[in-house]
Amino acid sequence: MHPLQHVLQVQRCLRWGPLASGSWLLLRTCRAHSGVPSTARPSPERQQEDGVWKDFSSRLASGPTFQHFLRSASVPQEKPPSPDVEDPPPYLTVDELLGKQRKVYLETYGCQMNVNDTEIAWSILQKNGYLRTSNLQEADVILLVTCSIREKAEQTIWNRLHQLKALKSKRLRSQVPLRIGILGCMAERLKEEILNREKMVDILAGPDAYRDLPRLLAVAESGQQAANVLLSLDETYADVLPVQTSPSATSAFVSIMRGCDNMCSYCIVPFTRGRERSRPVASILEEVRKLSEQVLQLIHDRDNICKQIHLPAQSGSSRVLEAMRRGYSREAYVELVHHIRESIPGVSLSSDFIAGFCGETEEDHLQTVSLLQEVQYNMGFLFAYSMRQKTRAYHRLKDDIPEEVKLRRLEELITVFREEATKANKTFVGCIQLVLVEGFSKRSSTDLCGRNDGNLKVIFPDVELEDVTNSGLKVRAQPGDYVLVKITSASSQTLKGHVLRRTSLKDSAAYS
Ligand code: 5AD
Repeated sequence: MHPLQHVLQVQRCLRWGPLASGSWLLLRTCRAHSGVPSTARPSPERQQEDGVWKDFSSRLASGPTFQHFLRSASVPQEKPPSPDVEDPPPYLTVDELLGKQRKVYLETYGCQMNVNDTEIAWSILQKNGYLRTSNLQEADVILLVTCSIREKAEQTIWNRLHQLKALKSKRLRSQVPLRIGILGCMAERLKEEILNREKMVDILAGPDAYRDLPRLLAVAESGQQAANVLLSLDETYADVLPVQTSPSATSAFVSIMRGCDNMCSYCIVPFTRGRERSRPVASILEEVRKLSEQVLQLIHDRDNICKQIHLPAQSGSSRVLEAMRRGYSREAYVELVHHIRESIPGVSLSSDFIAGFCGETEEDHLQTVSLLQEVQYNMGFLFAYSMRQKTRAYHRLKDDIPEEVKLRRLEELITVFREEATKANKTFVGCIQLVLVEGFSKRSSTDLCGRNDGNLKVIFPDVELEDVTNSGLKVRAQPGDYVLVKITSASSQTLKGHVLRRTSLKDSAAYS
């Protein structure tokens, strides 16, 4: 049997109960046995002696294959969305689980996974009525998301704990007591050792126990220490939408899996983060969709981001899109176009198209023509298909559209694209456009060239003009300047007009 099949069997076997940090110990036990709960089994030696084990091996051999597990793993298995506040345990009321506006200070150490864990922990606490603070002094709860990867990483946390101890002891009696928590890998690795060594630590939560944070904090409220370091086989926080903790962050992590099964001989991670498990595809896609929404929102809101999106369609026929393996249908593409246009009114759209892909019929081609008409792109890049070696199409499909047909279809696409783009661009005639100057026009040294907010080329004569920020002064527009241009004509590729004055992004935004 493939060694991975063993592991997968083991995973099934481990599903019977929550598993603490001894996961690999349990793993070995299970590996020798099967997917039968351990209490119901005789020892492996006995089994082998009496032939049961042999029988079991043959049963295993006829069991599901590795492929079977891969297939079923791809089916999204979302947990039902959890309520904002989980059911309380018998010794707590719903009220006691709530944060009562307590201020949480989160500090993250270590890897990207910890950044993501911080976002998950915060998402859970926020839903439970906690507030966030970036000011350590005003915090009611301080949570350190810790790292165990190397000794030095842990030493840093111990040192930090000593500083926090001082902060805790200075807390006034009139205030709610300061609670300190250790989250993540160090909590998992050291468990009660932390509680014993640092009596001021109130809560411990391992990487799979963040849902339990409200309960742990509620228990700590009464002055007791509280810990949950259980590792799970299936916790992926799929239904917890991470809340980005740094508002000025320029990037975001989308976590697709947790844990690690590699067992590199030097590494603690399998012991602190537990078994490898993938997040359901549907929940990853949902998070990415939300991030894309934020990007659209940003393009809409910010004046310094040009309102243009390149959406390479390649074809207007769902049949051809499938042959191209593009992963979307014409309908899904059109829906996306509508969504973008609703989110960013006036957005300019560009696209790429390939004419004469393998097996493209006349009907398919007409579908592309109709997509060009339906979307009315502002810019387009159209190509005749040329077979490339090594590609899937090269190996599996036939480049069966004669060259002259490809070129005729390409010409037809270009004609339709131009008609539509001209129509779209003509709507700018008579309007004043804010233009970022790029330099001289390629065709004439007496004209300047720039781009409007939709990234369309705008050509205008290079004349002396008034500077709005320095009244009376005559200037010439330079590359990098913003100018206002009144549009007088439009073609499928460019807008033409005359420049009114130099301006700034801020100034023009104030008037738009
Ligand atoms: N033949 C024709 N056009 C192609 N493109 C990519 N590969 C080919 C090919 N083999 C086009 C697509 C892509 C753009 C960069 O080039 O439209 O979006």
